[in-house]
Amino acid sequence: MIVAVDGPAAAGKGTLARKLAQHYGLAHLDTGGLYRAVALRVLRARLDPTEPVGAEKAARALAPADLADPDLRLERTAEAASKVAVIPGVRAALLEFQRAFAFKPPGGAKGAVLDGRDIGTVVLPDADHKLFVTASPESRARRRWAELAAVPGRPSLAEVEGQVRERDARDRERAVSPLKPAPGAFLLDTTDLDIDAAFAAAKAYISGPN
Ligand code: DC
Repeated sequence: MIVAVDGPAAAGKGTLARKLAQHYGLAHLDTGGLYRAVALRVLRARLDPTEPVGAEKAARALAPADLADPDLRLERTAEAASKVAVIPGVRAALLEFQRAFAFKPPGGAKGAVLDGRDIGTVVLPDADHKLFVTASPESRARRRWAELAAVPGRPSLAEVEGQVRERDARDRERAVSPLKPAPGAFLLDTTDLDIDAAFAAAKAYISGPN
C-alpha cells in the first residue's frame, strides 16, 4: 500500500503522514527532509542554493547521516531547500531514492507513506491513496510560529507569515514539479481541524468510514 501526502509548508502533512504510517504499519519518508539535506550541504559549502552545479553534486552525495542533522529544521535551511528544489537536476537525483523507498520500504514494511510537494503528481502517480493537505496561509503561519515558541529571538508572526507565503509562491510557481493537487486527490483543508480530526478524515478516506 502506497500513500502520497502533498501540500504546502506547515499544513500539517508531516504529522498526518507519520500518524498514518504508524496506524497502517507502513514506512514513512519526509521527502522535504531530502531537499533540506541538499540545502544544508550547499549552505555549509558556502555555495549559492540557486546555482545548479553545486546543488546537483550535493544531491548526488547525500548520505543517510545527512537526514538526521538537527539543522535540517532551521528556517534558513527550509528557505534554501525551496531554492534547490527548483533545480531539475536536484529533483532527478532525488527521484530514484524516493521511488526505491516506496517500492522496497525499509524494515520489511508492507508499504510506505511519502509526504512532500509532488509525490502524487510526479514521484508516485500510481499511489493507492493521494491526499492534498492545505490550510489558510494565516493558520499555517500561526502554527509554525507556535512551534518556534522556545526558539531564542523568534521572528514575529508577520515575519513567519511572510516566509510561508514566499516559500508557497516558489513551490507553486516553479517550472518542474510544482506544488499542486494530483488528479483525483482527496483534498483535506486543516484550517479548522486539529490533528485528531485531520487524522480521522484521512483514515475515513483511505479505509472508508469504519
Ligand atoms: O516540507 P518541507 O517544508 O520540509 O520542504 C522543504 C522544501 O523542499 C519545500 O519548500 C519544497 C521542497 N520540496 C519539494 O520541492 N518537493 C518535495 N517532494 C518535498 C519538498
